[in-house]
Amino acid sequence: PVGIVDSNIESIQSTRQITLGYSQLGSESDWRRANTASVIESAKEAGITLLFENAEQSQEKQFEAIRSFIQQKVDVIAISPVVQSGWEPILLEVKQAGIPVIISDRSVNVSDSSLYVTFIGSDFYDEGRKAGKYLLDKMKDKPGPIGIVELQGTIDSSPTVDRKNGFREIIASRSDLKILKSRPANFTLEEGKRVMESFLEEQNNDIDVLFSHNDDMALGAIEAIEQVGLRPGIDIVIISVDGTRKSFEMMVEGKINAVVECNPLLGMNLMQAVKEIMGGKNLPKRIVLPESIYTQAVAEREVNNRKY
Ligand code: AHR
Repeated sequence: PVGIVDSNIESIQSTRQITLGYSQLGSESDWRRANTASVIESAKEAGITLLFENAEQSQEKQFEAIRSFIQQKVDVIAISPVVQSGWEPILLEVKQAGIPVIISDRSVNVSDSSLYVTFIGSDFYDEGRKAGKYLLDKMKDKPGPIGIVELQGTIDSSPTVDRKNGFREIIASRSDLKILKSRPANFTLEEGKRVMESFLEEQNNDIDVLFSHNDDMALGAIEAIEQVGLRPGIDIVIISVDGTRKSFEMMVEGKINAVVECNPLLGMNLMQAVKEIMGGKNLPKRIVLPESIYTQAVAEREVNNRKY
């Protein structure tokens, strides 16, 4: 009878092993390493078989990984995209193979939104706005001009584009806040240090503020600032993004003034989305996690609670 056949099918489907192919963009930062660990641990916990590829910041390598997932006939593909452009053709290949796609962490610029099921990640534009609001408040009694330098992440990546724009939208309300220099440093400590050295050489004593698009670059910049005998957090106000334990330690030491939180612990949300897709559920197109901003006032209390 029909009823018995149906319930058999259901139990076969719910016990069938799900395989997820995950294309991680790299391991450039502490944030990224925490994100990778979260994905791997959550897959284990959820009982999902994970095929994991690290693309070392190369979009080409991400394409190779995705093609290999198609060949291996995985059930779902998740992608954390290094840059936002250039994804349409490969996503079309995945669609033609009938495999659902989840975009995780960074977004993609595609005109056809049916190329992916959902995008799980932070609101980077809002992170830039939070950094800008903190700066306005911090400088409310200080007369201008106030010189700002900016360490961008990877060119054409969504956190770089959105944090940059969100920050500018807010500080535009004060015309004496001047962005003196803004350059990419690829989200790494080493490049952050190198680019900050060049800012310090070129701008002499004009730098009042550093806005760094992530903590690793801010840590590199702190080294560069100390090398020239200046005091990070005092002579140069530092605002960063991520909220790693190391950045909290720097806030406790007074070397970073504020950190906008960006949560890398997306693994459980991702696994839940995978299961829901496999169960035939409709997912919202956008899943955003709540995030905060931390200052030196709370750093001491919070530092030991940091999970990444
Ligand atoms: O995409 C998230 C960003 O990428 C994080 O801010 C940064 O640390 C990472 O490399």
